[in-house]
Amino acid sequence: MRADSVALAKEVLYQNWRGSYTIPSGRLYPFQWNWDAGFHALGWAYIDIERSFLEVESMFKGQWKNGMLPHVVFHEENEHYFPGPSEWEIRCSSHAPDDVWTTGITQLPVFGFIVDRIAQFLQYEGPVLHAFLERIYPKILAFHRYLFKHRDPNREGLVYIQHNWESADNSPMWDEALAAIDIRHAKEVSGLRKDNLRVDASHRPSDDNYKRYIHLITLMKAVRYEDEKIAASHPFLIQDIFFNALLLQSNIGLLNIAKHLQQDTLEIQTWIHRSTAAINQKLWNEEAGFYFSFNLKTQQQIQVKTSAGFLPMFAGICNTEQAEKLTHHLTHHFIPNTDWKLCPSTAADEASFDALRYWRGPVWVNVNWMIYHGLKKYRYDRLATQIKEDTMQLIEDNGMYEYFDARPHEVKDGLSKAGLGADSFSWTAVIYLDFLNNQLPC
Ligand code: GLC
Repeated sequence: MRADSVALAKEVLYQNWRGSYTIPSGRLYPFQWNWDAGFHALGWAYIDIERSFLEVESMFKGQWKNGMLPHVVFHEENEHYFPGPSEWEIRCSSHAPDDVWTTGITQLPVFGFIVDRIAQFLQYEGPVLHAFLERIYPKILAFHRYLFKHRDPNREGLVYIQHNWESADNSPMWDEALAAIDIRHAKEVSGLRKDNLRVDASHRPSDDNYKRYIHLITLMKAVRYEDEKIAASHPFLIQDIFFNALLLQSNIGLLNIAKHLQQDTLEIQTWIHRSTAAINQKLWNEEAGFYFSFNLKTQQQIQVKTSAGFLPMFAGICNTEQAEKLTHHLTHHFIPNTDWKLCPSTAADEASFDALRYWRGPVWVNVNWMIYHGLKKYRYDRLATQIKEDTMQLIEDNGMYEYFDARPHEVKDGLSKAGLGADSFSWTAVIYLDFLNNQLPC
């Protein structure tokens, strides 16, 4: 089974390779996605290092002139996807790149820690790696500068997201903020959607939510994607725990790269210190013993327990009491008993938990991978092993699915039916390969 899965993982990456980048899955996602590309680069590092570097550089071809790294780069035309380039109309912004189409928002920032992990795997050695780092370091730095300059208007050390697609997509974390958007003048999108035609519609976001997602794009276009105007009037501005924890971990990775390249590190160190303090002050809830996102419109924490709340452990910024409270949630609230697999994307005891709808319950293996590394940092070795084994098991019993049902499933003839969303999904393959090939801490 394990040997089969290794072969399958490699096959999925080869199958989804498009000459200079990897698509997440042929069925649903025919372009290059931002944080997916980071994971793909990591996976290629175990197979073909040239492809690994190419993957990263292809993604940064979409970087905007102000440093923003878009959430999708449309390298090719494909009519089977909505919303495509004509919906985003990025050329209304003077910051958009001239020679490639992209979306107008960003996505979870992973390149700092991913590139550092790839470099560590290569022991930071060799002229080809060095040349790659010299090319890519200023671009990652420019992306982080963009975030702190334009997405943190009050200089808090926390950046905001302006669209749910910048983070955990359909998570219940966004329900309240999305519901508050005035959609009286929003256009109908149900006839334009393609996602719900290609996989089970009951696992996808509702039409009402989708209308809100597209309306947010309309509002950003109306101000030509100008950050100052978005900060002043946009209805969706959230200091997301997921985004900020990954940005912090990416800054830690970037710091390692900067040191290796003998660059000045003061700016990155300042970001790290400020974000560490701000996450622990503003996003930690002592009473709940958990981390939550903060809605800038209502000036309140969004008290829904999601797997993103564990990621400050991944960034290594919790004290031991916080880590203890978090692991208690993991084993007592996220799963009702040990027959379930870790880690549901929303706690099983939340009212909004939905075992099948994406980001509202199912397991995402890349998030599991981050939780695993977080648990290792705090020496919860047994729990770390459990989440790693659950992840491997889900993949081996089901295949390379996009996400998985955490509830117990019967395994018949070596196969179960817990796999959900797209199949032949690239980052699922990557996580499998990383768990097997790379024992370095993260
Ligand atoms: C879905 C996921 C998002 C991912 C994209 C491509 O939209 O929610 O996180 O980047 O698919 O795989």
